[in-house]
Amino acid sequence: MKVPLLDLKAQYAAIKDEVLAVTSDVYEDQHFILGPRVKRLEKEIADYCHCKNAVGVSSGTDALLISLMAAGIGPGDEVITTPYTFFATVGSIVRVGAIPVFVDIELDNYNINPEAIEEKITKRTKAIIPVHLYGQCCDMTSIMDLAKTHHLILIEDAAQAIGAEHNGQRAGSLGDLGCFSFFPSKNLGAFGDGGMVTTSSDNLNKVLKIMRAHGSSPKYFHKMLGGNFRLDALQAAIILVKLPYLDIWTASRQTNAGRYVDLFEWKGLTGLIKLPEQKNGRHIYNQFVIFVPDQRDKLKEYLYEAGIGTEIYYPIPMHLQPCFQNLESRQGDFPNAEAAAERTLALPIYPELTEKQQVYVVEKIEAFYV
Ligand SMILES: Cc1ncc(COP(=O)(O)O)c(C=O)c1O
Repeated sequence: MKVPLLDLKAQYAAIKDEVLAVTSDVYEDQHFILGPRVKRLEKEIADYCHCKNAVGVSSGTDALLISLMAAGIGPGDEVITTPYTFFATVGSIVRVGAIPVFVDIELDNYNINPEAIEEKITKRTKAIIPVHLYGQCCDMTSIMDLAKTHHLILIEDAAQAIGAEHNGQRAGSLGDLGCFSFFPSKNLGAFGDGGMVTTSSDNLNKVLKIMRAHGSSPKYFHKMLGGNFRLDALQAAIILVKLPYLDIWTASRQTNAGRYVDLFEWKGLTGLIKLPEQKNGRHIYNQFVIFVPDQRDKLKEYLYEAGIGTEIYYPIPMHLQPCFQNLESRQGDFPNAEAAAERTLALPIYPELTEKQQVYVVEKIEAFYV
């Protein structure tokens, strides 16, 4: 049996006719960048995220970069974030000239430890970027309080968390700015790169819209520095087709997560392998990540040989990346992030995954350990 980590072909088969129709419309219109489809998507994503405004941009990475730029974060400013994330979170901070200040994660949900943030706040701290990793919100109550008390900009990296909730509030509506990715492997994936920034601030909304087109307003008059951060109409048209399915796909991911829990318990594997914990609200399971204390890499190899796709998100935490060595963090500084990098493994969780495939995955994990 084959169980890929993700099966985008299965999803495409279900929506192929709709996608071909809307992409054909874009070809007929020959209107490829921004325009009415992007505008409609911005309105629909803003509504979906319970946010006043949304601005379509070229990727999740650019969503982070433009958010930092729009918030006026620059050289010498400190930005508090997690060392256990995709590179773009930290790369964007460094690209605007700011200094990332890391706070270790909690091992029950792999998100930043809110209790450890305040001691890292200095006079130079300007922002906090919590990352809602794997589709689950950080503990935002205390992070929002801290941002308010210390007058810090709060930028949510919600690239993996569209539709996730913290105490009933949607990712992207909890901070000043919310950054989303439409990278194909995300729960709401485009057919290429794309992203979105959500904000309840009309002022930030206006600045973001100017900055995404080289800071020009009106055209060819540049009052501020921006970049080419525009979203393509083709991507917007495809995401508009997918959006009505998102809650159905999310429900399937949640069902699959529940089924893994039942299967691991049934096989008596929960003493050996730690399953992801759901805290404080709606988890949208962009990834289902297990903690494997023993022989993680050998298990990955064994599953690969058995036709099962898995992935390590992420093998090297940000403070140990060669390009961030000037930040002077060392091995041992963030033990939980380092443990997660050494011992976690993402299993297939995509909506079209069948019960039979999940049974096969768990049986193979059982077979590896007995
Ligand atoms: C946590 C996180 N932040 C940022 C990004 C960047 O998004 P993109 O790949 O769309 O640039 C990703 C996507 O991989 C991500 O997972």
